[in-house]
Amino acid sequence: MNLPTEVRYRPYADWTTEEKEKIAANVANSPWHASYHLEPKTGLLNDPNGFSYFNGKFQLFYQNWPFGAAHGLKQWIHTESDDLVHFTETGVKLLPDHAHDSHGAYSGSAYQIGDKLFLYYTGNVRDENWVRDPLQIGAWMNKEGQIEKFNQVLIQQPEDVTEHFRDPQIFDYKGQFYAIVGAQNHQKHGFIKLYKAVNNDVKHWEFVGDLDFGGTGSEYMIECPNLVFVDEKPVLLYSPQGLDKSELNYDNIYPNTYKIFQSFNPEEAKLVGGTDIINLDYGFEAYATQGFNTEDGRALIVSWIGLPDVDYPTDRYDYQGAMSLVKELSIKEGKLYQNPVKAMKNLRSSQETFGDKNTTNNCYELNLTIAENSQAELVLFADQKGNGLAVTIDTKNGNVLIDRSKAGEQYAIDFGVTRKCSIDTAETSARIFIDKSIFEIFINGGEKVFTGRVFPGADQSGIQVLSGNVTGTYYELTY
Ligand code: FRU
Repeated sequence: MNLPTEVRYRPYADWTTEEKEKIAANVANSPWHASYHLEPKTGLLNDPNGFSYFNGKFQLFYQNWPFGAAHGLKQWIHTESDDLVHFTETGVKLLPDHAHDSHGAYSGSAYQIGDKLFLYYTGNVRDENWVRDPLQIGAWMNKEGQIEKFNQVLIQQPEDVTEHFRDPQIFDYKGQFYAIVGAQNHQKHGFIKLYKAVNNDVKHWEFVGDLDFGGTGSEYMIECPNLVFVDEKPVLLYSPQGLDKSELNYDNIYPNTYKIFQSFNPEEAKLVGGTDIINLDYGFEAYATQGFNTEDGRALIVSWIGLPDVDYPTDRYDYQGAMSLVKELSIKEGKLYQNPVKAMKNLRSSQETFGDKNTTNNCYELNLTIAENSQAELVLFADQKGNGLAVTIDTKNGNVLIDRSKAGEQYAIDFGVTRKCSIDTAETSARIFIDKSIFEIFINGGEKVFTGRVFPGADQSGIQVLSGNVTGTYYELTY
């Protein structure tokens, strides 16, 4: 939603209780609230931040502007989880309350160091002429959730980057802390800078080099770069804005992509032996995905179900955006797979054989098998007239097509109403999660993923099978 700059950057303290109550009441009126996906209490949720493990729990923050569905003065909101399925907001916030983050506590990462959680993030600072100074800064969070910001800047804007320099990700490689930061050069090409913590002290960072990941610079900015390791193979996840479509076909306003590498050579700032650039998600919205490696070596990722510069039907209820399910990465025969964490199965409260159904509440999981040589056409969020989200899994021609042109309230139609990807012409599995106004579809054990939103009418809660040889199970999910 377009709101004037004065509104978006109005100091938090100036918002009256009455105004805040009005916003909260409006949010509560939405018919589209998710059940088992994390949403903002009020305002806009964008990137996942600080995804990590600390103090016996998983930690996940998110970018938020609390006063409406717009990108305003950003803060981090803290949640924690035991099972990576239930995330509870604790009330802890990283506020834009310091000279180094006066115009927003922008995205970043976190890592447990000693008995504290180190938060590494971008301070968005603007001067009186609205000129931006992007600062990479830090803070400690202790076990009580108290935040103590560093007074020094950890990385200043280098000479060869524009004001677009942000989203530091800290990671440990063989006992040494490194950080990568998204950047734009003066020729308006996106790239990534690699830094290293001097003597492993996160208060001191030195530049190693511009990360060589085989990027072409066809994008004008790389947001939210993340390096995770899957069976020791480096996987770079990133959001290249403006990426040339001759390099990768995508429909969303901005893509979220990855490359798998054979190895990482930090001395030379080089990721070696990369695949082509690949879409992380084939759906209508998944962006700014953040990942980290757990102590036992798992690579976990979570995505913003939303996109910058897109208006959503929920905007009129003063909120926007949701967090995806947490997905675990694996690599099989050189291919990346994403799967919801195992604990998602604990939400299954009843099960029945898959078939036509009125679900009444659009809160379920489907586990399906589509036979080979079959065109399975399903309608989810279906009404009596057969309108809804059309999902076609075609094992005859080898593709999956999602069409939301008849599913609820339309938005972002300039970017197309269908999404598609190819699959092998063989028996195919589909695991589908539906949550009120969200779908996450995992094809072939997570080889291809479609994430997106649908804003259904009150009568759109059915499942219809129009054709195809498709069998499986319907699970009702209870949160
Ligand atoms: C990505 C992004 C980041 C930035 C944050 C601000 O969606 O633009 O690059 O740090 O959002 O909210």
